[in-house]
Amino acid sequence: MIRQYLKFRKTITIVCVLSLLFLIFLILTKNQNSNSSELIRHHKRLDDDFQDIGYRELDDIPKKEIYVLGEKELKMELSNTIEDSTKRELREVKAKVEQLEKKIAFLEGRIPQKYPEVQYLGYKERKRILVTGGAGFVGSHLVDVLMIQGHEVIVVDNFFTGRKRNIEHWFGHRNFELIHHDIVNPLFVEADEIYHLASPASPPHYMQNPVKTIKTNTLGTINMLGLARRVGAKILIASTSEVYGDPMVHPQPESYWGHVNPIGPRACYDEGKRVSETLAYSYAKQEKVSVRVARIFNTYGPRMHVSDGRVVSNFIMQALQNLTITVYGNGKQTRSFCYVSDLVDGLLALMASSYSLPVNIGNPVEHTIEEFAVIIKNLVPGCRSTVATGAAVEDDPQRRRPDITLAKNQLHWSPKVSLQDGLQRTIDYFKEELSRTTFYNNQTYIDFKVKTSH
Ligand SMILES: NC(=O)c1ccc[n+]([C@@H]2O[C@H](COP(=O)([O-])OP(=O)(O)OC[C@H]3O[C@@H](n4cnc5c(N)ncnc54)[C@H](O)[C@@H]3O)[C@@H](O)[C@H]2O)c1
Repeated sequence: MIRQYLKFRKTITIVCVLSLLFLIFLILTKNQNSNSSELIRHHKRLDDDFQDIGYRELDDIPKKEIYVLGEKELKMELSNTIEDSTKRELREVKAKVEQLEKKIAFLEGRIPQKYPEVQYLGYKERKRILVTGGAGFVGSHLVDVLMIQGHEVIVVDNFFTGRKRNIEHWFGHRNFELIHHDIVNPLFVEADEIYHLASPASPPHYMQNPVKTIKTNTLGTINMLGLARRVGAKILIASTSEVYGDPMVHPQPESYWGHVNPIGPRACYDEGKRVSETLAYSYAKQEKVSVRVARIFNTYGPRMHVSDGRVVSNFIMQALQNLTITVYGNGKQTRSFCYVSDLVDGLLALMASSYSLPVNIGNPVEHTIEEFAVIIKNLVPGCRSTVATGAAVEDDPQRRRPDITLAKNQLHWSPKVSLQDGLQRTIDYFKEELSRTTFYNNQTYIDFKVKTSH
């Protein structure tokens, strides 16, 4: 009985387990079926979308959709991305190039791109002209005129008192050449004409190294005359009214032999120039060199050295800074001042002429130094300077005025620029110089811009 009962229970358990398994099987099969029908429905939706795309513009389709949708669109998306990044890089490079171009333009702006207009001369008229001391006050103005006339100009200078700034507007011009050279040493260049101007001209400069001043005017002049002889060039020597010393004849004609102290503080310059003239005529006589001698009287104008210690520059600088205008001595000594463009015209006329003896070039309008001080003071607007006299300078010539009859007759030259006009242009120049410079004790200066840039 018990056995039968146990067998029955076992059968019931097996039946229950089997029904349970069947039930699980049924449930699982149902889930799978619903998943696959969902999958089929989804695929169908995708197919429909894809069909739609065929009728639309690809550009209108949002990129995300294309990425999902197919390989063709994926490629397109990729190429678009590459194109975009290339374009961005190009834009960046272009911006950098533009920046660099601006920088170059700024740097190039410092060097004049455009030169003053020069004439064109054929090879028969065009001369090769050497200007010694061409970076100085007078020399640089002469260089300007020669360049504008269309000649080839070689400047030789040791920059003792000259400045590159005076001639920098010609740097790089095909007709212009600059040689940094001391004419006390021989020079070998080819030239048709030589303007020999190299020598300090203001008393503080030529007295600074008297031996060098004599060497420049003697050895330097021998070198230039020797060069003129070798290459067959015509040479003009820049002499000075100082060869008349403290003159006993007034006004001074070329025939006057002068009154010079050979051992005074000005002798290095005065006697140096007198030897220069002697050398010129010795080379003319002995070596048949074609010489011209200009006896230059006091000249003024833009590009004068601000600290050269000459009357015009001193007075203007003092007036512009409302400092006391100092007159050395009693102020009754006289001077005649020639504007630089008039002097340059005179030098050109002398070189072109056939007259080979010394010629005075200067302005015969004579004023006392005291009068000059007042004229300059009145030309500077708002000037509060006073005029004071100081100790007299040793060997200072008392009267100076050129007799220019010879220049008028031989060169048909006479000065044109009035004292008022010339002084006004010079005052404007010094004003500009003052704005660039800082002065200490009215003696030495430091170029402010240069100083602060270092
Ligand atoms: N400016 C005047 O009032 C005046 C008056 C009479 C004569 N001069 C004569 O005119 C000429 C020019 O005078 P400036 O007023 O132009 O003077 P400056 O001092 O301005 O010019 C003279 C030039 O010669 C150069 N120089 C000097 N020694 C040299 C050397 N050994 N080698 C090469 N170069 C040298 C200087 O660096 C300078 O550039 C000088 O010979 C001077 O004696 C001038």
